Amino acid sequence: MEQFEGQPRLPKFAVPKRYDIRLKPDLSACKFAGFVSIDLDIVAGTKFVVLNAAELSVTNGSVSFTNRGFSKVLEPSNIDLVEADEILVLEFAETLPIGIGVLTIGFEGTLSDNMKGFYRSTYEHGGEKKNMAVTQFEPADARRCFPCWDEPACKATFKITLNVPSEVVALSNMPIIEEKVEGHLKTVSYQESPIMSTYLVAVVVGLFDYVEDHTSDGVKVRVYCQVGKANQGKFALSVAIKTLELYKKYFAVAYTLPKLDMVAIPDFAFGAMENYGLVTYRETALLYDDQHSAASNKQRVVIVVTHELAHQWFGNLVTMEWWTHLWLNEGFATWVAHLATDNLFPEWKIWTQFLDESTDGLKLDGLAKSHPIEVEINHVGEINEIFDAISYKKGACLIRMLQSYLGAECFQRSLASYIKKYACSNAKTEDLWAVLEEGSGEPVKKLMNSWTKQQGYPVVSVKVKDKKLEFEQSQFLSSGSHGNGQWIIPITLCCGAYDVKKNFLLRTKSATLDIKKFLGDKTEVTSVWIKLNVDQTGFYRVKYDEDLATRLRYAIENKYLSATDRFGILDDSFALCMARQQSLSSLLTLMGAYREEPEYTVLSNLIGMSRKVATIVADATPDLLDCLKQFFISLFQYSAEKLGWEPKEGENHLDGMLRGEILTALAVFGHDLTLNEANRRFLAFLDDRNTPLLPPDLRQAAYVAVMQRVTTTNRLGYESLLRVYRETDLSQEKTRVLSSLASSPDPKIVLEALHFLLSSEVRSQDAVLGLAVSREGRETAWTWLKDNWDHIFQTWGSGYLITRFISAIVSPLTSSEKAREVEEFFASRTKPSMARNLKQSTERVYINANWVLSVQKEEHLVNTVKELTQRK
Ligand code: BES
Ligand code: ZN
Repeated sequence: MEQFEGQPRLPKFAVPKRYDIRLKPDLSACKFAGFVSIDLDIVAGTKFVVLNAAELSVTNGSVSFTNRGFSKVLEPSNIDLVEADEILVLEFAETLPIGIGVLTIGFEGTLSDNMKGFYRSTYEHGGEKKNMAVTQFEPADARRCFPCWDEPACKATFKITLNVPSEVVALSNMPIIEEKVEGHLKTVSYQESPIMSTYLVAVVVGLFDYVEDHTSDGVKVRVYCQVGKANQGKFALSVAIKTLELYKKYFAVAYTLPKLDMVAIPDFAFGAMENYGLVTYRETALLYDDQHSAASNKQRVVIVVTHELAHQWFGNLVTMEWWTHLWLNEGFATWVAHLATDNLFPEWKIWTQFLDESTDGLKLDGLAKSHPIEVEINHVGEINEIFDAISYKKGACLIRMLQSYLGAECFQRSLASYIKKYACSNAKTEDLWAVLEEGSGEPVKKLMNSWTKQQGYPVVSVKVKDKKLEFEQSQFLSSGSHGNGQWIIPITLCCGAYDVKKNFLLRTKSATLDIKKFLGDKTEVTSVWIKLNVDQTGFYRVKYDEDLATRLRYAIENKYLSATDRFGILDDSFALCMARQQSLSSLLTLMGAYREEPEYTVLSNLIGMSRKVATIVADATPDLLDCLKQFFISLFQYSAEKLGWEPKEGENHLDGMLRGEILTALAVFGHDLTLNEANRRFLAFLDDRNTPLLPPDLRQAAYVAVMQRVTTTNRLGYESLLRVYRETDLSQEKTRVLSSLASSPDPKIVLEALHFLLSSEVRSQDAVLGLAVSREGRETAWTWLKDNWDHIFQTWGSGYLITRFISAIVSPLTSSEKAREVEEFFASRTKPSMARNLKQSTERVYINANWVLSVQKEEHLVNTVKELTQRK
């Protein structure tokens, strides 16, 4: 038996072909009973059947194996449930006959409260507290609901039957074929599914209302919400219908199931889950309320719906062979979601907003403790941690880089043939490259291997020498050191105008380009602006020499550059500054060039940077902080004045989002007029939740502003916010309050807000949203985390949310003493499921600490800040 233990994957003596699953959840006792009958293909003579099962009790006498002719019924001589490996080992007295047989198992389990496997979520109905039963199986928790071959490559068909209270809605992947009521119970049976992976099987049992529509080819689409809230499902429904039609064209394959249900679940660990035909969502990612949802909420719904529906092709129809190729699922869905969103809402400029994703990818991958996109998985516990910015965001960026290299049309054609070729089966990264290589005639595999098999990415240094451009690549690390990675980089560049451009592959460490040749005589090499990574489609950073950087700053001030390029120049400069390859003075000077910046995404990134810089300066040279805040206030005032507080009639979606972020920034930097006005409007809102003075787009800004003035002796704002939290039944409103509560500069209030997160008033899915702690509250938060670690670990330790506690609280610290303290504290407390995250968070603290030291040593900083503040 030991030979099966400690293995990352199951032995393949027996291959499942079809599951017939019966489940009977008991919603009040929070238990379930089940019975599964699995058609197996025994492919090698064996006495053992090894499959996955966890936290289930398999009753002796309930397991049997019948061969094809039903001439023999065998009972195992030994049943062993190895909890450490989550496997069920069945040993038979004789060798099982090769060919098809049927394995049947009866089992029982608990509806857990940790949002995985078959679990319970709670809600109120008619003033009564109720339970619903929901599944969440990805990555590897189907085994907590029924014994199975719980690996993405073990695809089979599923025939599901549920035995549930007669009054509830019971959903599964496929449409219902029969419903039989017997007294208080009903038996609901569903059509058999096409072949699919276990992690995509789903069941939802509870009370719901729904809205419904059909696609032009007759797919029935429904959105299920809490009873009485069906209206809030209408927006997502219309997005889903349009998205299914769009993907049908893009992938050249229609949606494969007869129906699609999308359900809002009150307790949900992630944003959403793409179960085949039954997509589950956190409420904030599916519901949209005309009166009280903000523009950012609307956008979130679209991004999540288009993402999950992309998986119905990329992931569900064609599935990764193993978790090493998770990025194929997630990177692709992230990229395709942007493609669809851009199609549905072009005015949102979602490809510009995509740069937010790419900068997150670059930030994580700039750590020494990052990992390659294709990462070896040796233990199930390691899978959750790779649902990170590398798989999602770097993954999506690489797809975008490749698409722009190969051309959109060729890319789409090849993708369609990939889907066709691997439909109903599994694929690896190299399978995708092979199809793209065939479709394009380009060496895709060689090019992309350098990006997916090694971690990190390059910074390309560029300078002008003797009228030539010199390029050199080296691995970028935020710590300031250089790694030894080397990449094949699709370089793009523009000189002085967007139609004067040049593309080439940088395959070596360095290269020289005689730009005179393609510039012709019209343009002067010695004065023209030169921008690399045009439109920021490449996953790399650029370091310009001082001369080129000055020319670019001038081009920005004179509005010659596109929004994406303005974003890139600023973002690279910030990264280089953090890595101590550029002074803070030069970063601040560059930031000053963005005073009249009109674009939402660029400003939003500028705001994020300014807050980070303020944290570093507060620790490095506290005397300079006030002056620095004045500079930032003056920087954002231009946009604030242009936008005003009142939404303009028919204004654009991005203005609404920007207004909120700009006012939040002004509030955090202590701008009195903003604080006064926000408090005034908040009071009006307390009197009337529908007041036009505080529309949804402004609320979070107002909440943060209110919290800026809350202290232990002036608690009214805090209490009022709690009241808003308690009185609303809209999750998005609760989220806005939660994420503002810890933004007070008074550490005692921060502590109170943190304690509130652990109270029964906050669902465990939401607690991490409240970890947006003010600069002044960071140390308090760290102490709080240590003091409450046992409880926190017990509540969130079995899922991925535990890593959010660590990264949110540890990453903002800025001294090496703190970093060591973190290492010591966790030395005896790490688990495989949080090891990587902990290392990354501590690495960030060391990076911050070094940045603080270098800012302390920087000469002229005071003068630069003073001078910038006076400039108008
Ligand atoms: N497949 C994931 C859900 C998931 C995440 C399962 C982690 C297991 C572990 C789903 O498709 C997803 O990616 N959801 C995202 C939302 C998306 C819009 C980025 C999420 O939950 O945040
Ligand atoms: Zn996904």
